Amino acid sequence: MNETNHSQVTEFVLLGLSNSQELQPFLFLIFSLLYLAILLGNFLIILTVTSDSRLHTPMYFLLANLSFIDICVASFATPKMIADFLVERKTISFNACLAQIFFVHLFTGSEMVILVSMAYDRYVAICKPLHYMTIMSRRVCIILVLISWCVGFIHTTSQLAFTVNLPFCGPNQVDSFFCDLPLVTKLACIDTYVVSLLIVADSGFLSLSSFLLLVVSYTVILITVRSHSSASMAKARSTLTAHITVVTLFFGPCIFIYVWPFSGYSVDKVLAVFYTIFTPILNPVIYTLRNKEMKAAMSKLRSRYLKSGQVLQS
Ligand SMILES: *[C@@H]1O[C@H](CO)[C@@H](O)[C@H](O)[C@H]1NC(C)=O
Repeated sequence: MNETNHSQVTEFVLLGLSNSQELQPFLFLIFSLLYLAILLGNFLIILTVTSDSRLHTPMYFLLANLSFIDICVASFATPKMIADFLVERKTISFNACLAQIFFVHLFTGSEMVILVSMAYDRYVAICKPLHYMTIMSRRVCIILVLISWCVGFIHTTSQLAFTVNLPFCGPNQVDSFFCDLPLVTKLACIDTYVVSLLIVADSGFLSLSSFLLLVVSYTVILITVRSHSSASMAKARSTLTAHITVVTLFFGPCIFIYVWPFSGYSVDKVLAVFYTIFTPILNPVIYTLRNKEMKAAMSKLRSRYLKSGQVLQS
C-alpha cells in the first residue's frame, strides 16, 4: 500500500445529517441526550449482569456482550457527528474515514453474530431444555463471543481490502454523517462497478445469512412455544418478542442499505441513524423494561448502592 500514489484527496467533507443550519443546535441537543442514554443504559446492563450472580447465565452474558458492542457501535461515529453539528464545514481526514469504515463493519458484523448466538441460546433453552447446561457451557459461550469478533474482523478487513487502494482524485463529499462504503467508493475516480458488487456481495452475504439463521431459529422456537402453554412458556414468549423486535430493527435498515446501496437516496443516512443510534438505545429499553429478572437485579443493585451511600455519610 503506497500512501502517496493512491490518493490526492487528503480529507473528506461530511455533509452531515441535515443541511439546515437552524436545525443544528436542536440536533446537537437531541443526539447528545440520545448518546448519553446509550452509554448509561448499556453500562447499567453490563454492571447489573456482572454484579448479580443470579444473572451469570449464558443468556445474560450474551446480553452484556451485546450491550458492549452497542456502546462500540454508538461510539465510533456519533461523538464526531455531535461535535460536527456545531461546525459548518465538517471534514474528516482520509485515514479517519478509513477507520470509520473499518469500525462500522467490525462492530455491526460482530453484532450480527452475537444476535445469532442469542437466538441459538434461546433455541437450546426452549427446544432442548434438558441439555441446556451441557450445550451452553461457559466455554461455548466464550467461543461464541470470540467467533463474533473474528467474523466482524474478517468481514471488515475483506471490505477494506477492496477500498484502500482506490484512487481518490477530486470529489470528496460524503453525503452522510460518517464514512461508509457505498458512499465513499462512489467518490473514487475509476469505475467502481466491480468493487461495489464485491462490497454488496460481502455485506449482503453476512447480513442475509445471519438474518436467515435468525428467522429459522425463531420460527422453530415459536412453533415449539406454541405447542406448550405453561407459565414458563409465557415467559419465553415475552423474551422472544424482545429478541425479534431488536433483530427486525437492526437488520431492516442494514439489509435495506446494502441491497439498494448505490441508490444515493438520502433515506440511507436516516436508516444509518437506526442502526448506529436507535438499536443501541432500544436494546436496554427492550431487555430491561420487559424482563422481571433484570428489573429485580437492578433494584437490588440500587438498594445496595443506597445503603453503601448511607454508610459513607454516617
Ligand atoms: C461476554 O461473554 C463472556 C462469555 O460468556 C463473559 O465471560 C463476559 O463477561 C461477557 N462480557 C461482558 C462485557 O459482559
